[in-house]
This record gives sequence, C-alpha cells and structure tokens, in this order.
Amino acid sequence: MTVDPCWLGTQRLPEVTIHASGALAQTIRAELRQTRRIRNDVEVALCTLGRVGETPLWQEVEAALSGEGLGAEGFVVARRGNNLVVAAEAGRGLLYGYFYVLRYFEWMTSEFVVVERPAIAIRMLDHWDNLVPHPRMGAVERGYSGGSIFFRDGRVVADLTRVRGYARLLASIGINAVAINNVNVHAAETRLITDHLPDVSRLAAVFREYGIALYLSVNFAAPMELSDLDTADPLDERVVRWWSATVSRVYDAVPDLGGFVVKADSENRPGPHVYERTHADGANLFARTLAPYGGTVFWRCFVYDSHQDWRDRSTDRARAAYDHFIPLDGRFEDNVVLQVKHGPLDFQAREPVSPLLGELQETRFALELQVTQEYTGQQKDLCYLGPWWREILQFDTTGDGGPTVAERTKAIVAVSNVGDDANWTGHKLAQSNLYAYGRLAWDPSADPVSLLHEWAAATFAMDDRTRSELVSIMADSWRTYERYTAPLGVGFMVAPGSHYGPSVNGYEYSKWGTYHFADRNGVGVDRTVATGSGYTGQYPEPLAGRYESVYTCPDELLLFFHHVPYDHVLQNGRTVLQQIYDTHFRGYDEVEAMLTRWKAIADRFEPVTRENITTRLEGQLANAREWRDQVNTYFYRLSGIPDSEGRTIYR
Ligand code: GCU
Repeated sequence: MTVDPCWLGTQRLPEVTIHASGALAQTIRAELRQTRRIRNDVEVALCTLGRVGETPLWQEVEAALSGEGLGAEGFVVARRGNNLVVAAEAGRGLLYGYFYVLRYFEWMTSEFVVVERPAIAIRMLDHWDNLVPHPRMGAVERGYSGGSIFFRDGRVVADLTRVRGYARLLASIGINAVAINNVNVHAAETRLITDHLPDVSRLAAVFREYGIALYLSVNFAAPMELSDLDTADPLDERVVRWWSATVSRVYDAVPDLGGFVVKADSENRPGPHVYERTHADGANLFARTLAPYGGTVFWRCFVYDSHQDWRDRSTDRARAAYDHFIPLDGRFEDNVVLQVKHGPLDFQAREPVSPLLGELQETRFALELQVTQEYTGQQKDLCYLGPWWREILQFDTTGDGGPTVAERTKAIVAVSNVGDDANWTGHKLAQSNLYAYGRLAWDPSADPVSLLHEWAAATFAMDDRTRSELVSIMADSWRTYERYTAPLGVGFMVAPGSHYGPSVNGYEYSKWGTYHFADRNGVGVDRTVATGSGYTGQYPEPLAGRYESVYTCPDELLLFFHHVPYDHVLQNGRTVLQQIYDTHFRGYDEVEAMLTRWKAIADRFEPVTRENITTRLEGQLANAREWRDQVNTYFYRLSGIPDSEGRTIYR
C-alpha cells in the first residue's frame, strides 16, 4: 500500500549544512535524505546557538535574540543575501526550525529575521486506539479512518514504518506528545504497562526520534485486575506500592515516558469515587508515583452522571465538570494536568466554552479538542474545524478583556483522526484538520484560512487558482455543518450510538443528560440562574449576565442556555423557528454548492483523491438532506408554523 505523504509530499529544499550534533540532528539529516532538492543559490545552514559563529549570520541571530532565551523548542530563522540560517538552543528547536524552512522556503525570497516560540508548552494528540478491537467500538473508538496504526491482533505492530511516517507528520506541525491508547482502558490495554512494555518501548523510540513524548492511558482499577489486591483505593498503602513498583518498571522500559492519561469515574470507568475519595486523591496518587521520573498525569474532567433519569429536571450535565473540579482547585500536585473538554457537554459543533477553562486558578489544565469528527461529520462530511478551534482558543474567559483560553492553558490535547487508511484520515480533506490543530497549538493566533492555504499548497501540486478555489470550498464548512445539523447550540440531535446523521429525539429520553426539551411552544434548555439549572452562574461577570439574558445571549448559543418560544425574535431579527428553517435550507444549499464547485476542479487532482473527495461530498449531500428535512419537519409538525418563504417542508 502506498501511504499518502500528506503535507510532506511536495516541498523541496536546496543543499543544507548542519552544525549540530545529537539524536535530533541525526533525524534532520535523515529527513534531508528524503527531501527533494532544488537547484538554488541560497545556502541553508542549521545550527545550535553554541555554534552560530560557524555561520555567516551570527550577528543577525544574536541581535534577534537580544539576550532572551529561545527555550527548548524555539528557533530563529534569518535570511540575508544568499544565506539562510536556522538557529536553536537544542535538537527540538532545530527540528521545528527545519520543518519551518521546509514549509516556507518557496516564499523566503527576501531578507528577514523571525523568532518562533510555541505558545503552549505541551501539544498533544490522544489516540483512542484499542490493542484488541472492542466489540462495539472497534479498533479505534470514534475512529473513521480504518484500523489502528499502532496495534494489530492484540500486539504492537511489528513494522513501525507507518508509525515513523506519523511521527514525522506530527513533528512537522509541532506536536510534542502522543498518547497511544484509548482513554477507555479495557482488559487487554490494562496490560500495556506490564506485559507489553518491550513493545511500548519500541514505539517510544520512534517518537523520540521526532522529539515526541509517549503517554499511556491507564486503568484506575489496574491493581485489582493485574494483582491479587481487592481494592484500587488511592489512599491504600498497598495500592500506592503497587503503582510505584509498576511505574518504576515502566520507566525502566521508557525512561522518558511523558506520563499517564486517566479517565476515572466517567462513563462507567472506575475511579476514586468508589472509595469515597476525591479526584484530587486519585490524580495525586499517579502524580506522586510519576514525579521521581519527571512524568505528568493528565486527569480528565469529563465527569458527569451518565445514568441520569430524563424525568429528573434538577440535574444538568453541563454543570458537572465545574461542580466536580472547582471545589478541588489547588489540591492537585504540580505534575497533574486537568484535561478539560472545550465545551461543557461533548465536542458538539457548537457549545459555549467550558467555564472551567476560565475558572481554574491554581491547577494546571489542558484544553481538550477533538480532531476526529465524532459529532462533526465523521470524516464522511467535510468540516474544517480550524475556525472553531481558533474561536475557542481566543475566547475571552471573563468577557471583559480578560485572558484568553490560549493564554491560560498550559497544554492542549486533541483526539486524533488518524487510522491505517492509505490517506490516514478517511476523507482526504480531513488531513487539514490534523494540520490546523498542530499549527494552532503552536500559534493560537494563526489565521485558519491561511493555514488552509498553507496545507493545500504543501499537499497538492497545483496552480494558485485551483488552490484558492479548494480553500474557499473548505473554509466555511464548519459553519455549513453547524447550519444543517442541531440548531442554535442545542446539540445532540444525532443518531444514538453512532453519532452520525440526524435523530432529533434520539437522546431525548436517554440516560446521557443531553436533551432539547422541544414542545409545541418552544425549544431549548433553561440553564439560567433565575429559572433554570443555574449553569450560567458558573461564569464570571459580565459573561454570566450576557448568557443569562435572552436578549444578550449570542444567537448561536441561545438554545443551549434558554428555552424560548418559537416566535422569540433573535438578535438578527428572525424568529427562532424561521432561523431553524433558514439555516437548514441554507446548510443543504451550501453543501450542494460545495459539490458543484468541487466537480469543476476535480479533474485537476489525482484519480484516487478525486474519487475519495467526490464520493464523500456526494454522501455529505445526502446526509445534509436528511438533516434538513428531519429537523424542519420535526419543528413544523410540533409548532404548526410554516416557513415564511414557502419552501418545501415535508409534513
Ligand atoms: C464521547 C465519546 C466516547 C468517549 C468519550 C470520552 O462521549 O462518544 O466514545 O469515550 O467521549 O471522551 O471519554
């Protein structure tokens, strides 16, 4: 099988000299051997700062730094005359500098100096890969691109070529951490920290070559499953000893392991609550055992009642993460990172930003995004998520010019969308989401449309007009997706279980706490302090007040925060019901236009790419039609109010 090189397929460089030693300098040398060359009179040199004197641009580099350090990952690039120099303190900065030059060389035609440092220290991808395929979830939970690139037949794959290919893709976009297994750690994966250590060590070695730390998801109840202990109580001395001994063996095998990821007391996973202990007790157990080795525990905050009775109107799932974790703020060890999903529910196409991301004060936390498109089209539908992530990263956590999410977060994590399909992501164009994630993690102020241009230029050999057309087809696809699916932030009108396609009432009477409460008069969830669940009170003023009032709540989130009548007039002047009809008609029309525009340029692409994208866009059109008609018909039947423009709504 020929594996798609993604965005590392088209670039070329002139001759490059390297003034550095060490493992990552070796990696760059190996990269250079694979990179196509161009004849060019520019002389490119890569050096560590200690050897910058060996290059002609040492003065430019020193002036750019003016005494400030670069950190382990930063780098300087300077061009003057025919010389181009990349300088960094050490290996990782040099590797990122190398990929920077590879990406932009073609545009580096005049003199310039840039200094780059990542905005966020830990930039991670979480894989929900299973060692043994799960009976319902398969090889990759919520994976839409084939099997796992790490595991097959209950073992780590023997040939790691594909993994190496992945590591270089990740390094090229600045990712420095990867968790290789599913947060839902089942029986087989529980043994990754024992029986499979030699194989884990092989995987870690490949990622190490690219400056990427490996993490493992672990099972909180492992001491009970792997030893004769009858408890996993985090305060029980025997449990502490078991974890210490186990962690010590793990670090014998992988001395630079990043650490663990833990999903506890969440969706039926075991956790400290069983023993009436807190999340701080649980997380600190791991933190203390990992600390001697410099490891970190990522402790997930995706904790809520997944056995809710829909009749119970007093419980609001959106409140749960904040209610669980804010009282514990400050009680976590320094090497705990609380991993917070971007919204209070679950990776919907539209949700408010989780109040935890603004309100945790004394605990390190990570923002968690989802590159795999569980609720955003599953890599069948085109949905470029860059603009959505950028909005989340730039969200003002006080509503008053306070720090943004990007400024507050110490780490960023996302669920990977990669599998063993030849093109990695199922939908060829979904590669752009992986690319944009890495680039935004490095620079949260990057413009998502520029990132698409960058990605397209690096991925396809094509003329500028074709590239612009492709970018323009993709750029707004997240908003298009939002338009034809669940309206005004209400979320979760998806087919239960699979989460693809519409099912307006699919979750309405379920145990999962995800309801829209539509009746003949209105729709939406009252989360106000005045009359609802009080969720709006988890935000500081003036944000809380903005969400509390139907008059100031942003239209796109109205039904997330309020239950309103169908004739409620939005800030944009339209009624809620008319907005639902309009966006659903418009969303479908936009997909139709995407397909038409794509077909006009499709023959400029390789047959495999053409076929892949055409088939998926056709499927998307059918999906959008289903969404449009089911949602419109549902609300028409309930309300009896017709579309003001008389378009077809099936009765
Ligand atoms: C979602 C998803 C699950 C996943 C969970 C998580 O609910 O559907 O498959 O396990 O998120 O983030 O832990």
